[in-house]
Amino acid sequence: MIDVHTHILPGLDDGAKTVDESLLMIRQAIDAGIEVICVTPHIPDDVAPSFQEKIDRTFQLLLSQVQRERLKIRLVLGSEIYVRQDIGSLSQFNFFSLNQSGKYVLLELPLELIPPNLDRLLYDLLLDGVTPVIAHPERSIVEMSQLKAVEDLVRLGALTQINAGSLLGHFGRPPEKAAEYLLRRNQVHVMASDAHDSGTRSIAVLRQALPEVCRLVGKTKAEELVTLNPSRILSGEDLVTDQCGAAADKRSTEVRVAEGEACD
Ligand SMILES: [Fe+2]
Repeated sequence: MIDVHTHILPGLDDGAKTVDESLLMIRQAIDAGIEVICVTPHIPDDVAPSFQEKIDRTFQLLLSQVQRERLKIRLVLGSEIYVRQDIGSLSQFNFFSLNQSGKYVLLELPLELIPPNLDRLLYDLLLDGVTPVIAHPERSIVEMSQLKAVEDLVRLGALTQINAGSLLGHFGRPPEKAAEYLLRRNQVHVMASDAHDSGTRSIAVLRQALPEVCRLVGKTKAEELVTLNPSRILSGEDLVTDQCGAAADKRSTEVRVAEGEACD
């Protein structure tokens, strides 16, 4: 499995606090069958160049620790960008994209609110050749009628990433119901952990939620959500969301993981 949304870098946001906690989270990921982790620290509204340098430095530090401990994991760098008006003008946009490919960006919506101008903002990104991946839209749903807005964004060309914990009821009933609804309507492209710690928001939820995903949409779709689509996103390739076989055949070798593990 590949996890495209995690807060594992230590001391940068509300995720891991220390390198030791980061390493514990990585060990939990390995135990859960995760082979590639994209680290996605929160990017604040006014991001200073020094913050970018800090991210880079922290990432290199964690990489060296992973090598020293001989942990069998691949770490790649990305970020989770809070949605705001001038997102398109973020300097060093490639730096903040997932696996720094410049192709996909992970966007965080305000909780319990879908901004009214979001479609315009996403459209501008798409025109620039950047595909927005909307992080946990199910957590922004207050009324079920808002699910229609999410479907409109997907129709526009955005991708969606649900949190595994939402399906396990970790954020309450409304996000759980919304995640189930979006899954059944084939409006979800990726499932990730959005791990923040080694306890209640652990990375292990990615595996724990798999049986529920299989129950809702089947094993093939589950593999698409946790392996095939994440692999293509991190490789900067287009998704082939309705033809899993074709997606598997064309998949880049850059981020390749074992198949057939979902739902086992
Ligand atoms: Fe997050």
